[in-house]
Amino acid sequence: MASADTTSSDTRDDAYEFAAPFRAPQGSPIRELFKYVGRPGMISFAGGYPSKDLFDRDGFAHALDAAYRSDPIACLQYGDTAGTPALRGSLARLMGTRGVACNADDIVVTTGSQQGFDLLLRTLIAPGDTALIEEPAYPAAIQALRLAGANIVPVRTDRDGIDVDALAAQLDAWPAAPKPKLLYTVPTFANPTGATLSHARREALVRLAAARRIVLVEDDPYGELRFSGTPVPPMRALADACPGARDWVVYFGSLSKIVAPGLRIGWAIAPAPIARRMIVAKQTSDLCTSPLAQETARHYLDSGSLGLHLRSIVGAYRSRCEALVKALGHFAPGEIAFTAPEGGMFVWARLTGGRDAGEVLKRAIERNVMFVPGPAFFVREPDASSLRLSFAAPSEAEAFEGARRLASALAQA
Ligand SMILES: Cc1ncc(COP(=O)(O)O)c(C=O)c1O
Repeated sequence: MASADTTSSDTRDDAYEFAAPFRAPQGSPIRELFKYVGRPGMISFAGGYPSKDLFDRDGFAHALDAAYRSDPIACLQYGDTAGTPALRGSLARLMGTRGVACNADDIVVTTGSQQGFDLLLRTLIAPGDTALIEEPAYPAAIQALRLAGANIVPVRTDRDGIDVDALAAQLDAWPAAPKPKLLYTVPTFANPTGATLSHARREALVRLAAARRIVLVEDDPYGELRFSGTPVPPMRALADACPGARDWVVYFGSLSKIVAPGLRIGWAIAPAPIARRMIVAKQTSDLCTSPLAQETARHYLDSGSLGLHLRSIVGAYRSRCEALVKALGHFAPGEIAFTAPEGGMFVWARLTGGRDAGEVLKRAIERNVMFVPGPAFFVREPDASSLRLSFAAPSEAEAFEGARRLASALAQA
């Protein structure tokens, strides 16, 4: 019988020869905060979760029931790696409403859009390859690039997203080889900044990526959550007007923020040579996305429920965002600088007077309110006074109370 000592020494980290990116892996800094979220009375501006009060539970139950009743075998059996033809068709029609002309064959269904990015990295990035990413950026994109062993180079953004002129200058000064392989961006209601890239910048970025032969990754989980301002087309739509550009844009969509993240349904639209390789990578990842989830998603989309649901959640997020913005102005005037977003889930802010958001968070948690300190969103040189506040989950009354507690934490920090 093995002794207790033998068992514990066998389970030490250094007992294994881990692959380089996993020798000292950093987990998601945001997930670390989740241990506080369930605390009684906690008001969380931390997660990028859709509001639990806003799920379309009845519509969803109906779609699940209809999916199973109409074809139980399709729900229970393995399915095509690229996705069920029916869901791919429904997603192609959804993309049509976003201005992207495509058909079912152009869609690869993924288990959340996060998987899509991971599959793309497996097809394009070998350790040491360079990848560009907007900064501040979605932390799980940074994490995926780190685990792929990429040389990650941040690209400057301002309140309108990527500064395309600065990027062009950065690329002009780049050594002839090796060139960056891809550029990752969330151009509409970005996570974490809430910023939206203007129409003119989108066109310039599409042209630049095509001219430099860099794969432009357009991650778009929030685009439909617009509550003010004028809609801008996805870059994947604009690429059609620029010869050759479509070959350099990879679009990721997701039902997580607009229907439910528990479905784990995302999709990719990629140039055929890339899509083919992503499907091969997916074969060794999960064989296929859950057919039960795909059939349910298809019934939900085809029933027309999404349009009604979107109207309801966009209205709620508008009110919640307005409540937070108003409450921050009321309780902490001059202490937090931010630009109110036109949609999405996030307010990106900076504490005035150079205060450290991590320190303020400690005081905030004591007062049962949370947010994410900005450094989680940076690749190299974090801005310690920045922070991300999500307005999606707290009700208007909670947003008001949360801002009051935050102001009290600021007064103590
Ligand atoms: C920018 C961005 N991309 C992708 C995802 C992941 O989406 P999914 O649930 O489709 O994997 C998130 C989730 O927070 C996100 O904010």
